[in-house]
Amino acid sequence: MKPPDQRVQSALQGRMLVITGAGLSADSGLQTFRGAGGLWRNHNPMNLATPEAFVRDPRLVWEWYEWRRREASKAEPNPAHLAIARRASRPKDCLVVTQNVDDLHERARTPFDRLVHVHGDLFRNRCNHCEYSDREVLEGQALPPQCPQCKAGLLRPGVVWFGEMLDPRVLLRVDDFIRLGRCDLVLLIGTTAAFPYIVDWATRAKDHNGILVEINPEQTVISEMADVVYRQRAAEVLPELLSC
Ligand code: APR
Repeated sequence: MKPPDQRVQSALQGRMLVITGAGLSADSGLQTFRGAGGLWRNHNPMNLATPEAFVRDPRLVWEWYEWRRREASKAEPNPAHLAIARRASRPKDCLVVTQNVDDLHERARTPFDRLVHVHGDLFRNRCNHCEYSDREVLEGQALPPQCPQCKAGLLRPGVVWFGEMLDPRVLLRVDDFIRLGRCDLVLLIGTTAAFPYIVDWATRAKDHNGILVEINPEQTVISEMADVVYRQRAAEVLPELLSC
């Protein structure tokens, strides 16, 4: 890894916004969505990750998310997850905003109050009719179970599907972190930044005289805005970069 320059060195001691995507968990063996061999290369997301798809074929959607839960449970946090968790545990303010629905940030011991899941939680079940939700492990269920509360809905994975709104509480947490203080360093790790709110958060956080660092083996829509780019895997760069 090329040694971080002086600007990054001092920014590393400052207030930090960390935005992560599927590429971070790629080093733990989990498939990304759009990269080579990505999930959306082999599956049509409109048949698996929309409320309409769930109504159309609940068994297909349920089985696919059961498979993803098994894959995520088998995976382990990698050195990049651990480095982020160590940095987020330091007194200096830091917020980890992840698009990932796996629980590898938590298993790496990222402090709960410094972690935001913007696309939900793979291991949460929620009713598609009422407000009910739980984190029960429902192994071996062929079909999505009926909601134990309203008995009218079906339990679905607690993730944000295409066409669905983000949780307003999540939006507020990220907006508050960006608004309430200068972000000295914005780290963008393993994401194509496919969603406008990711680009918006990264650029707004950078606008407070912050340094934007991208870690991704491939070019993305954000690359041109980045001050420093590491065209490498997250697990190769972060342990050393965040130990500075
Ligand atoms: N380290 C760092 N980056 C990596 C690595 C790695 N080891 N391996 C792959 N990448 C990069 C790829 O080059 C790609 O740019 O990670 C990125 C993964 O991009 P996507 O698959 O688009 O994943 P992400 O950006 O997280 O997708 C956002 O889209 O499908 C929805 O809800 C889903 O949360 C997901 C969202």
